[in-house]
Amino acid sequence: MSISVFTLTALCAALYYTIAIAYNLLINPLRHIPGPKLYAISHLPILRRNINGTWCLYVSKLHEKYGPVIRVSPNEVLFISPSAWNTIWRSKGTRSFEKDPLNYPPTLTGVDNMLIANSKAHLRMRRALNPAFTDGAILEQERDIQKFTNSLVSKLKQKAASGTPIDMQQWFSLYTFDLVGKLLYSRPFGCLQSEEHHPYVAMIYDLITMVPYLSIFSRLTVFQLLIKGWNMDGLTWLARYFIPKKTYNAFKELLMFTFYATKESVHRRDTRRRDWISYFLRNNGESTMSVDELGETSAILFIAGSESVASTVTSTLWFLMQNPISYQTLVEEIRTSFRDESEITITALKKLPYLTAVLEETMRLRHPTPPGFARTVPKDGAYIDGYFIPENTKVSINSMAANTSPLHFNHPHKYAPERWLRYPGFENDQLVASQPFYAGPRDCIGKGLAWAEMRVLISKFFWNFDVELLPESSGWDQQKVYIIWEKKPLWVKLAPVKKG
Ligand code: HEM
Repeated sequence: MSISVFTLTALCAALYYTIAIAYNLLINPLRHIPGPKLYAISHLPILRRNINGTWCLYVSKLHEKYGPVIRVSPNEVLFISPSAWNTIWRSKGTRSFEKDPLNYPPTLTGVDNMLIANSKAHLRMRRALNPAFTDGAILEQERDIQKFTNSLVSKLKQKAASGTPIDMQQWFSLYTFDLVGKLLYSRPFGCLQSEEHHPYVAMIYDLITMVPYLSIFSRLTVFQLLIKGWNMDGLTWLARYFIPKKTYNAFKELLMFTFYATKESVHRRDTRRRDWISYFLRNNGESTMSVDELGETSAILFIAGSESVASTVTSTLWFLMQNPISYQTLVEEIRTSFRDESEITITALKKLPYLTAVLEETMRLRHPTPPGFARTVPKDGAYIDGYFIPENTKVSINSMAANTSPLHFNHPHKYAPERWLRYPGFENDQLVASQPFYAGPRDCIGKGLAWAEMRVLISKFFWNFDVELLPESSGWDQQKVYIIWEKKPLWVKLAPVKKG
Protein backbone atom coordinates (compact mmCIF):
# COMPACT_ATOMS: atom_id res chain seq x y z
CA MET A 1 0.00 0.00 0.00
CA SER A 2 1.54 3.35 -1.00
CA ILE A 3 0.91 6.55 0.98
CA SER A 4 0.84 9.86 -0.87
CA VAL A 5 3.17 12.68 0.21
CA PHE A 6 0.11 14.69 1.17
CA THR A 7 -1.23 11.98 3.49
CA LEU A 8 2.21 11.48 5.03
CA THR A 9 2.58 15.23 5.69
CA ALA A 10 -0.91 15.36 7.21
CA LEU A 11 -0.14 12.40 9.46
CA CYS A 12 3.17 13.92 10.60
CA ALA A 13 1.45 17.25 11.31
CA ALA A 14 -1.34 15.49 13.26
CA LEU A 15 1.24 13.57 15.30
CA TYR A 16 3.27 16.73 15.96
CA TYR A 17 0.22 18.67 17.15
CA THR A 18 -1.05 15.78 19.31
CA ILE A 19 2.33 15.57 21.05
CA ALA A 20 2.51 19.38 21.39
CA ILE A 21 -0.99 19.53 22.90
CA ALA A 22 -0.26 16.71 25.34
CA TYR A 23 3.05 18.36 26.30
CA ASN A 24 1.50 21.78 26.85
CA LEU A 25 -1.32 20.39 29.01
CA LEU A 26 0.47 17.64 30.95
CA ILE A 27 4.23 18.29 31.06
CA ASN A 28 4.94 21.99 30.37
CA PRO A 29 6.12 23.60 33.67
CA LEU A 30 3.44 26.28 33.21
CA ARG A 31 0.65 23.65 33.31
CA HIS A 32 -0.39 24.58 36.89
CA ILE A 33 -1.03 28.21 36.05
CA PRO A 34 -4.73 28.99 35.63
CA GLY A 35 -6.10 30.02 32.25
CA PRO A 36 -8.19 28.76 29.35
CA LYS A 37 -6.98 25.37 28.06
CA LEU A 38 -7.42 26.37 24.42
CA TYR A 39 -4.94 29.22 24.93
CA ALA A 40 -2.50 26.91 26.77
CA ILE A 41 -2.15 24.58 23.78
CA SER A 42 -1.75 27.02 20.89
CA HIS A 43 -0.79 30.56 19.89
CA LEU A 44 -3.63 30.75 17.40
CA PRO A 45 -6.41 32.02 19.74
CA ILE A 46 -4.29 34.95 20.94
CA LEU A 47 -3.19 35.70 17.36
CA ARG A 48 -6.76 35.78 16.13
CA ARG A 49 -7.71 38.27 18.85
CA ASN A 50 -4.57 40.37 18.21
CA ILE A 51 -5.42 40.69 14.56
CA ASN A 52 -9.06 41.56 15.10
CA GLY A 53 -8.22 44.08 17.86
CA THR A 54 -10.13 42.36 20.68
CA TRP A 55 -7.29 40.75 22.67
CA CYS A 56 -6.63 43.60 25.06
CA LEU A 57 -10.26 43.95 26.15
CA TYR A 58 -10.57 40.18 26.54
CA VAL A 59 -7.60 39.92 28.95
CA SER A 60 -9.52 41.70 31.72
CA LYS A 61 -12.27 39.10 31.43
CA LEU A 62 -9.71 36.28 31.68
CA HIS A 63 -8.19 37.81 34.82
CA GLU A 64 -11.68 38.18 36.34
CA LYS A 65 -12.37 34.51 35.67
CA TYR A 66 -8.98 32.90 36.43
CA GLY A 67 -7.33 35.31 38.90
CA PRO A 68 -4.30 37.65 38.98
CA VAL A 69 -1.89 35.23 37.26
CA ILE A 70 -2.95 33.62 33.98
CA ARG A 71 -1.37 31.53 31.25
CA VAL A 72 -2.43 32.81 27.83
CA SER A 73 -0.33 30.77 25.41
CA PRO A 74 2.01 27.76 25.57
CA ASN A 75 4.84 30.01 26.88
CA GLU A 76 3.24 33.23 28.09
CA VAL A 77 1.99 34.33 31.53
CA LEU A 78 0.26 37.58 32.47
CA PHE A 79 0.24 39.30 35.87
CA ILE A 80 -1.50 42.35 37.31
CA SER A 81 0.03 42.95 40.74
CA PRO A 82 2.21 45.91 41.78
CA SER A 83 4.86 43.41 42.92
CA ALA A 84 5.06 42.01 39.37
CA TRP A 85 5.96 45.52 38.15
CA ASN A 86 8.92 45.38 40.53
CA THR A 87 10.07 41.85 39.72
CA ILE A 88 9.81 42.18 35.94
CA TRP A 89 10.35 45.84 35.09
CA ARG A 90 12.76 46.89 37.85
CA SER A 91 15.07 43.94 37.17
CA LYS A 92 18.68 44.85 36.39
CA GLY A 93 22.03 43.41 35.26
CA THR A 94 22.21 39.66 34.74
CA ARG A 95 18.70 39.27 36.23
CA SER A 96 17.19 41.62 33.60
CA PHE A 97 13.99 40.46 31.98
CA GLU A 98 14.99 41.25 28.39
CA LYS A 99 12.65 42.42 25.65
CA ASP A 100 11.91 40.23 22.66
CA PRO A 101 12.68 42.37 19.56
CA LEU A 102 10.14 40.33 17.59
CA ASN A 103 7.40 42.00 19.68
CA TYR A 104 8.36 45.35 18.16
CA PRO A 105 8.41 46.68 14.61
CA PRO A 106 11.72 45.92 12.86
CA THR A 107 14.37 48.56 12.26
CA LEU A 108 15.38 49.86 8.85
CA THR A 109 19.01 48.73 8.85
CA GLY A 110 18.99 45.89 11.38
CA VAL A 111 20.83 48.08 13.95
CA ASP A 112 18.91 47.97 17.24
CA ASN A 113 17.09 51.08 18.41
CA MET A 114 16.84 51.96 22.11
CA LEU A 115 13.43 50.31 22.47
CA ILE A 116 14.59 46.83 21.44
CA ALA A 117 18.30 46.86 22.41
CA ASN A 118 19.42 44.44 25.14
CA SER A 119 19.80 45.90 28.63
CA LYS A 120 23.52 46.63 28.34
CA ALA A 121 23.23 48.45 25.00
CA HIS A 122 20.06 50.15 26.19
CA LEU A 123 21.81 51.65 29.23
CA ARG A 124 24.48 53.09 26.97
CA MET A 125 21.94 54.63 24.58
CA ARG A 126 19.78 55.94 27.38
CA ARG A 127 22.78 57.80 28.85
CA ALA A 128 23.31 59.50 25.49
CA LEU A 129 19.70 60.65 25.24
CA ASN A 130 18.90 61.49 28.88
CA PRO A 131 20.21 65.10 28.70
CA ALA A 132 17.39 66.01 26.27
CA PHE A 133 14.74 64.93 28.79
CA THR A 134 15.88 66.39 32.13
CA ASP A 135 13.66 68.90 33.98
CA GLY A 136 16.06 71.67 32.92
CA ALA A 137 15.86 70.65 29.24
CA ILE A 138 12.06 70.56 29.39
CA LEU A 139 12.01 74.13 30.74
CA GLU A 140 14.31 75.16 27.89
CA GLN A 141 11.79 73.61 25.49
CA GLU A 142 8.82 75.36 27.15
CA ARG A 143 8.89 78.19 24.61
CA ASP A 144 8.09 75.70 21.82
CA ILE A 145 5.44 73.89 23.87
CA GLN A 146 3.70 77.21 24.62
CA LYS A 147 4.08 78.46 21.04
CA PHE A 148 2.45 75.41 19.47
CA THR A 149 -0.29 75.31 22.13
CA ASN A 150 -1.07 78.96 21.39
CA SER A 151 -1.23 78.21 17.64
CA LEU A 152 -3.65 75.37 18.35
CA VAL A 153 -5.83 77.59 20.52
CA SER A 154 -5.96 80.35 17.91
CA LYS A 155 -6.90 77.84 15.16
CA LEU A 156 -9.64 76.44 17.41
CA LYS A 157 -10.92 79.97 18.08
CA GLN A 158 -11.35 80.47 14.33
CA LYS A 159 -13.22 77.17 14.04
CA ALA A 160 -15.38 77.92 17.08
CA ALA A 161 -16.34 81.30 15.61
CA SER A 162 -17.58 79.64 12.42
CA GLY A 163 -19.67 77.19 14.51
CA THR A 164 -18.45 74.13 12.59
CA PRO A 165 -18.09 70.75 14.35
CA ILE A 166 -14.48 70.17 15.42
CA ASP A 167 -12.69 66.82 15.58
CA MET A 168 -10.46 67.12 18.64
CA GLN A 169 -8.75 63.79 18.01
CA GLN A 170 -7.42 65.29 14.78
CA TRP A 171 -6.44 68.68 16.25
CA PHE A 172 -4.58 67.29 19.27
CA SER A 173 -2.74 64.99 16.94
CA LEU A 174 -1.80 67.82 14.51
CA TYR A 175 -0.42 69.70 17.52
CA THR A 176 1.69 66.85 18.92
CA PHE A 177 3.23 65.99 15.55
CA ASP A 178 4.17 69.60 14.84
CA LEU A 179 5.74 69.83 18.27
CA VAL A 180 7.67 66.57 18.02
CA GLY A 181 9.09 67.60 14.62
CA LYS A 182 10.33 70.81 16.22
CA LEU A 183 11.70 69.17 19.39
CA LEU A 184 13.37 66.34 17.52
CA TYR A 185 15.07 68.08 14.58
CA SER A 186 13.83 71.68 14.62
CA ARG A 187 11.56 70.76 11.68
CA PRO A 188 7.87 71.30 12.45
CA PHE A 189 5.67 69.61 9.86
CA GLY A 190 3.29 72.55 9.44
CA CYS A 191 0.30 70.35 10.32
CA LEU A 192 -1.48 73.04 12.36
CA GLN A 193 -0.93 75.58 9.62
CA SER A 194 -2.18 73.37 6.78
CA GLU A 195 -4.83 71.78 9.03
CA GLU A 196 -3.89 68.35 7.80
CA HIS A 197 -1.49 65.59 8.62
CA HIS A 198 1.82 65.46 6.79
CA PRO A 199 1.95 62.21 4.72
CA TYR A 200 4.62 60.83 7.09
CA VAL A 201 2.32 61.35 10.02
CA ALA A 202 -0.56 59.61 8.28
CA MET A 203 1.77 56.61 7.91
CA ILE A 204 1.87 56.13 11.65
CA TYR A 205 -1.79 55.27 11.59
CA ASP A 206 -1.11 52.71 8.88
CA LEU A 207 1.43 51.20 11.22
CA ILE A 208 -1.34 50.37 13.68
CA THR A 209 -2.75 47.87 11.25
CA MET A 210 0.68 46.35 10.61
CA VAL A 211 1.59 45.56 14.21
CA PRO A 212 -0.88 42.69 14.70
CA TYR A 213 0.49 41.03 11.57
CA LEU A 214 3.97 41.27 13.04
CA SER A 215 2.80 39.22 16.00
CA ILE A 216 2.35 36.29 13.60
CA PHE A 217 6.11 36.32 13.09
CA SER A 218 6.93 36.62 16.77
CA ARG A 219 4.66 33.77 17.87
CA LEU A 220 4.94 31.07 15.26
CA THR A 221 8.30 29.31 15.12
CA VAL A 222 7.90 28.40 11.47
CA PHE A 223 7.81 32.10 10.55
CA GLN A 224 10.73 32.99 12.80
CA LEU A 225 12.83 30.52 10.84
CA LEU A 226 11.81 32.19 7.60
CA ILE A 227 12.60 35.76 8.60
CA LYS A 228 15.95 36.84 7.23
CA GLY A 229 16.98 39.28 9.97
CA TRP A 230 14.67 41.55 11.96
CA ASN A 231 14.82 44.51 9.63
CA MET A 232 12.55 45.81 6.92
CA ASP A 233 14.47 44.07 4.12
CA GLY A 234 14.54 40.78 5.99
CA LEU A 235 10.80 40.99 6.19
CA THR A 236 10.21 42.02 2.61
CA TRP A 237 9.18 38.75 1.06
CA LEU A 238 7.07 37.63 4.04
CA ALA A 239 5.47 41.04 4.11
CA ARG A 240 4.30 40.50 0.54
CA TYR A 241 1.95 37.81 1.79
CA PHE A 242 0.94 39.07 5.22
CA ILE A 243 1.11 42.85 5.35
CA PRO A 244 -0.95 45.11 3.08
CA LYS A 245 1.52 46.55 0.55
CA LYS A 246 0.47 50.15 1.16
CA THR A 247 1.02 49.76 4.90
CA TYR A 248 4.38 48.09 4.53
CA ASN A 249 5.69 50.68 2.06
CA ALA A 250 4.41 53.57 4.14
CA PHE A 251 6.09 52.28 7.26
CA LYS A 252 9.38 51.72 5.47
CA GLU A 253 9.24 55.24 4.08
CA LEU A 254 8.60 56.66 7.54
CA LEU A 255 11.63 54.81 8.94
CA MET A 256 13.77 56.11 6.07
CA PHE A 257 12.62 59.67 6.61
CA THR A 258 13.35 59.73 10.36
CA PHE A 259 16.65 57.86 9.92
CA TYR A 260 18.09 60.15 7.24
CA ALA A 261 16.68 63.37 8.74
CA THR A 262 18.49 62.48 11.98
CA LYS A 263 21.77 61.70 10.26
CA GLU A 264 21.56 64.93 8.33
CA SER A 265 20.84 66.84 11.54
CA VAL A 266 23.82 65.26 13.31
CA HIS A 267 26.15 66.11 10.43
CA ARG A 268 25.01 69.75 10.46
CA ARG A 269 26.24 69.90 14.08
CA ASP A 270 24.18 72.95 14.97
CA THR A 271 24.38 73.00 18.77
CA ARG A 272 22.78 76.42 19.22
CA ARG A 273 19.31 74.94 18.74
CA ARG A 274 17.35 73.37 21.55
CA ASP A 275 16.19 70.18 19.81
CA TRP A 276 16.91 66.65 21.05
CA ILE A 277 19.69 66.11 18.52
CA SER A 278 21.47 69.23 19.79
CA TYR A 279 21.39 67.95 23.41
CA PHE A 280 22.86 64.69 22.11
CA LEU A 281 25.69 66.55 20.36
CA ARG A 282 26.40 68.99 23.20
CA ASN A 283 26.66 66.15 25.71
CA ASN A 284 28.99 64.12 23.54
CA GLY A 285 26.30 61.48 22.87
CA GLU A 286 28.27 60.12 19.91
CA SER A 287 30.83 58.67 22.33
CA THR A 288 28.24 56.21 23.68
CA MET A 289 25.61 55.85 20.92
CA SER A 290 26.34 55.48 17.21
CA VAL A 291 24.66 57.79 14.72
CA ASP A 292 22.94 54.75 13.17
CA GLU A 293 21.53 53.78 16.59
CA LEU A 294 20.32 57.35 17.01
CA GLY A 295 18.82 57.32 13.50
CA GLU A 296 16.93 54.11 14.27
CA THR A 297 15.80 55.48 17.65
CA SER A 298 14.50 58.68 16.07
CA ALA A 299 11.45 56.82 14.69
CA ILE A 300 10.65 55.77 18.27
CA LEU A 301 11.08 59.33 19.53
CA PHE A 302 8.89 60.56 16.70
CA ILE A 303 6.05 58.08 17.23
CA ALA A 304 6.19 57.70 21.04
CA GLY A 305 6.65 61.43 21.50
CA SER A 306 3.48 62.34 19.63
CA GLU A 307 0.84 59.62 19.48
CA SER A 308 0.62 58.83 23.20
CA VAL A 309 0.19 62.46 24.26
CA ALA A 310 -2.44 63.07 21.56
CA SER A 311 -4.28 59.93 22.60
CA THR A 312 -4.23 60.81 26.32
CA VAL A 313 -5.47 64.38 25.97
CA THR A 314 -8.24 63.28 23.58
CA SER A 315 -9.33 60.60 26.07
CA THR A 316 -9.20 63.19 28.87
CA LEU A 317 -11.61 65.39 26.97
CA TRP A 318 -13.92 62.43 26.43
CA PHE A 319 -13.96 61.42 30.11
CA LEU A 320 -14.57 64.98 31.24
CA MET A 321 -17.51 65.39 28.86
CA GLN A 322 -18.98 62.17 30.29
CA ASN A 323 -18.46 63.29 33.91
CA PRO A 324 -19.85 66.79 34.48
CA ILE A 325 -18.68 67.04 38.12
CA SER A 326 -15.08 66.27 37.18
CA TYR A 327 -15.38 68.70 34.27
CA GLN A 328 -16.63 71.52 36.54
CA THR A 329 -14.03 70.83 39.23
CA LEU A 330 -11.18 70.93 36.73
CA VAL A 331 -12.43 74.01 34.91
CA GLU A 332 -12.80 75.83 38.22
CA GLU A 333 -9.30 74.87 39.32
CA ILE A 334 -7.78 76.13 36.07
CA ARG A 335 -9.80 79.32 35.78
CA THR A 336 -9.31 80.39 39.40
CA SER A 337 -5.60 79.59 39.69
CA PHE A 338 -4.41 82.22 37.22
CA ARG A 339 -5.21 85.88 36.60
CA ASP A 340 -3.93 85.81 33.05
CA GLU A 341 -3.21 83.12 30.43
CA SER A 342 0.48 84.09 30.45
CA GLU A 343 0.71 82.72 34.01
CA ILE A 344 -0.06 79.19 32.77
CA THR A 345 3.44 77.74 32.83
CA ILE A 346 4.88 74.25 33.23
CA THR A 347 6.12 75.11 36.73
CA ALA A 348 2.85 76.71 37.89
CA LEU A 349 0.76 73.82 36.55
CA LYS A 350 2.59 71.26 38.72
CA LYS A 351 0.77 72.82 41.69
CA LEU A 352 -2.74 72.00 40.37
CA PRO A 353 -3.71 68.77 42.15
CA TYR A 354 -6.98 68.11 40.38
CA LEU A 355 -5.37 68.50 36.94
CA THR A 356 -2.74 65.91 37.87
CA ALA A 357 -5.45 63.59 39.22
CA VAL A 358 -7.50 63.96 36.02
CA LEU A 359 -4.56 62.92 33.83
CA GLU A 360 -3.61 60.01 36.13
CA GLU A 361 -7.20 58.78 36.02
CA THR A 362 -7.35 59.05 32.24
CA MET A 363 -4.14 57.03 31.87
CA ARG A 364 -5.50 54.46 34.34
CA LEU A 365 -8.70 53.83 32.39
CA ARG A 366 -7.42 54.47 28.89
CA HIS A 367 -3.69 53.90 28.69
CA PRO A 368 -2.46 54.87 25.20
CA THR A 369 -0.69 51.50 24.72
CA PRO A 370 -2.80 49.19 26.90
CA PRO A 371 -1.74 45.68 25.82
CA GLY A 372 1.65 45.75 27.55
CA PHE A 373 4.93 44.67 26.02
CA ALA A 374 6.21 41.23 27.02
CA ARG A 375 9.56 40.57 28.66
CA THR A 376 11.48 37.27 28.77
CA VAL A 377 12.32 35.48 32.03
CA PRO A 378 16.13 35.34 32.54
CA LYS A 379 18.35 32.27 32.89
CA ASP A 380 17.40 29.84 35.69
CA GLY A 381 13.85 31.22 35.86
CA ALA A 382 12.25 33.47 38.48
CA TYR A 383 9.54 33.52 41.12
CA ILE A 384 6.79 35.98 40.29
CA ASP A 385 3.78 36.35 42.56
CA GLY A 386 4.36 32.93 44.12
CA TYR A 387 4.78 31.00 40.88
CA PHE A 388 8.07 29.65 39.56
CA ILE A 389 8.31 30.77 35.94
CA PRO A 390 10.99 29.01 33.86
CA GLU A 391 13.55 30.89 31.75
CA ASN A 392 12.51 32.13 28.32
CA THR A 393 8.82 32.33 29.29
CA LYS A 394 7.17 35.53 28.08
CA VAL A 395 5.74 37.58 30.94
CA SER A 396 3.79 40.81 30.92
CA ILE A 397 1.20 43.04 32.55
CA ASN A 398 -1.77 44.20 30.54
CA SER A 399 -2.31 47.79 31.70
CA MET A 400 -6.03 47.70 31.11
CA ALA A 401 -6.50 44.55 33.21
CA ALA A 402 -4.24 45.78 36.05
CA ASN A 403 -5.80 49.24 36.06
CA THR A 404 -9.40 48.05 36.16
CA SER A 405 -8.98 45.17 38.57
CA PRO A 406 -11.25 45.27 41.66
CA LEU A 407 -8.24 43.88 43.55
CA HIS A 408 -6.62 47.31 43.17
CA PHE A 409 -9.35 49.90 42.77
CA ASN A 410 -12.74 50.61 44.33
CA HIS A 411 -15.37 51.06 41.59
CA PRO A 412 -12.62 50.21 39.10
CA HIS A 413 -14.51 51.27 35.97
CA LYS A 414 -15.66 54.62 37.39
CA TYR A 415 -13.84 57.74 36.21
CA ALA A 416 -12.93 59.28 39.57
CA PRO A 417 -9.90 61.64 39.69
CA GLU A 418 -10.72 61.91 43.42
CA ARG A 419 -9.13 58.49 44.00
CA TRP A 420 -5.71 60.05 43.29
CA LEU A 421 -6.43 62.62 46.03
CA ARG A 422 -7.40 59.85 48.48
CA TYR A 423 -10.98 61.03 48.90
CA PRO A 424 -13.26 58.92 51.16
CA GLY A 425 -14.06 55.62 49.52
CA PHE A 426 -10.73 55.49 47.70
CA GLU A 427 -8.29 55.40 50.64
CA ASN A 428 -7.49 51.73 50.02
CA ASP A 429 -6.92 51.96 46.26
CA GLN A 430 -3.54 50.55 45.26
CA LEU A 431 -2.54 53.45 43.06
CA VAL A 432 0.85 51.90 42.25
CA ALA A 433 -0.94 49.21 40.25
CA SER A 434 -1.29 51.82 37.48
CA GLN A 435 2.12 52.51 35.92
CA PRO A 436 1.38 54.54 32.78
CA PHE A 437 5.06 55.10 32.02
CA TYR A 438 6.11 51.64 33.24
CA ALA A 439 8.93 51.30 35.76
CA GLY A 440 12.64 50.64 36.14
CA PRO A 441 15.58 51.39 33.86
CA ARG A 442 13.53 51.13 30.64
CA ASP A 443 10.58 53.28 31.69
CA CYS A 444 9.42 56.13 29.46
CA ILE A 445 12.25 58.59 28.89
CA GLY A 446 9.70 61.24 27.87
CA LYS A 447 7.47 61.10 30.94
CA GLY A 448 8.44 64.54 32.26
CA LEU A 449 7.87 66.06 28.85
CA ALA A 450 4.55 64.22 28.47
CA TRP A 451 3.33 65.62 31.81
CA ALA A 452 4.42 69.13 30.81
CA GLU A 453 2.74 68.97 27.40
CA MET A 454 -0.49 67.44 28.67
CA ARG A 455 -0.84 69.92 31.54
CA VAL A 456 -0.24 72.95 29.30
CA LEU A 457 -2.53 71.65 26.56
CA ILE A 458 -5.48 70.76 28.80
CA SER A 459 -5.19 73.95 30.87
CA LYS A 460 -5.00 76.33 27.94
CA PHE A 461 -7.84 74.46 26.26
CA PHE A 462 -10.18 74.88 29.24
CA TRP A 463 -8.95 78.39 29.95
CA ASN A 464 -10.23 79.32 26.51
CA PHE A 465 -13.15 77.03 25.75
CA ASP A 466 -16.28 75.36 27.04
CA VAL A 467 -16.85 72.12 25.20
CA GLU A 468 -19.86 70.06 24.26
CA LEU A 469 -19.87 66.54 22.80
CA LEU A 470 -21.72 66.17 19.50
CA PRO A 471 -24.13 63.23 19.12
CA GLU A 472 -22.14 61.63 16.26
CA SER A 473 -19.36 60.86 18.79
CA SER A 474 -21.60 59.49 21.54
CA GLY A 475 -20.02 56.00 21.39
CA TRP A 476 -16.46 57.29 20.89
CA ASP A 477 -14.92 55.08 23.57
CA GLN A 478 -16.05 51.86 21.86
CA GLN A 479 -12.81 51.22 19.97
CA LYS A 480 -10.64 48.27 19.21
CA VAL A 481 -7.09 48.10 20.52
CA TYR A 482 -4.19 46.98 18.40
CA ILE A 483 -0.94 48.15 19.94
CA ILE A 484 -2.67 51.50 20.41
CA TRP A 485 -6.32 52.46 20.22
CA GLU A 486 -8.05 52.58 16.89
CA LYS A 487 -8.53 56.23 15.88
CA LYS A 488 -12.05 57.63 15.78
CA PRO A 489 -12.88 61.33 15.41
CA LEU A 490 -14.09 63.06 18.58
CA TRP A 491 -16.60 65.61 17.32
CA VAL A 492 -17.28 68.55 19.63
CA LYS A 493 -18.64 72.08 19.62
CA LEU A 494 -16.47 74.74 21.24
CA ALA A 495 -17.67 77.97 22.83
CA PRO A 496 -15.02 80.59 23.68
CA VAL A 497 -15.04 81.44 27.41
CA LYS A 498 -16.30 84.97 28.11
CA LYS A 499 -13.70 86.70 30.25
CA GLY A 500 -15.25 89.01 32.91
C1 HEM B 1 1.06 60.03 27.87
C2 HEM B 1 2.22 59.95 27.25
C3 HEM B 1 3.15 58.76 27.25
C4 HEM B 1 2.99 57.50 27.75
C5 HEM B 1 1.78 56.95 28.49
C6 HEM B 1 4.20 56.76 27.47
C7 HEM B 1 4.42 55.44 27.84
C8 HEM B 1 5.59 54.76 27.59
C9 HEM B 1 5.81 53.40 27.98
C10 HEM B 1 4.81 52.52 28.69
C11 HEM B 1 7.07 53.05 27.58
C12 HEM B 1 7.76 51.70 27.77
C13 HEM B 1 7.63 50.88 26.50
C14 HEM B 1 8.33 49.54 26.59
O1 HEM B 1 8.66 49.06 27.68
O2 HEM B 1 8.53 48.92 25.55
C15 HEM B 1 7.63 54.20 26.93
C16 HEM B 1 8.89 54.24 26.39
C17 HEM B 1 9.38 55.32 25.71
N1 HEM B 1 8.77 56.55 25.54
FE1 HEM B 1 6.98 57.10 26.28
N2 HEM B 1 5.07 57.58 26.80
C18 HEM B 1 4.48 58.82 26.67
C19 HEM B 1 5.04 59.93 26.10
C20 HEM B 1 6.29 60.00 25.57
C21 HEM B 1 6.91 61.20 25.06
C22 HEM B 1 6.31 62.61 25.04
C23 HEM B 1 8.12 60.84 24.59
C24 HEM B 1 9.10 61.81 23.96
C25 HEM B 1 10.04 61.50 23.17
C26 HEM B 1 8.28 59.40 24.80
C27 HEM B 1 9.37 58.64 24.42
C28 HEM B 1 9.59 57.33 24.79
C29 HEM B 1 10.79 56.59 24.46
C30 HEM B 1 11.97 57.08 23.63
C31 HEM B 1 10.65 55.33 25.04
C32 HEM B 1 11.69 54.20 25.05
C33 HEM B 1 12.48 54.38 26.34
C34 HEM B 1 13.56 53.37 26.57
O3 HEM B 1 13.54 52.30 25.95
O4 HEM B 1 14.43 53.66 27.39
N3 HEM B 1 7.15 58.93 25.41
N4 HEM B 1 6.71 55.23 26.95
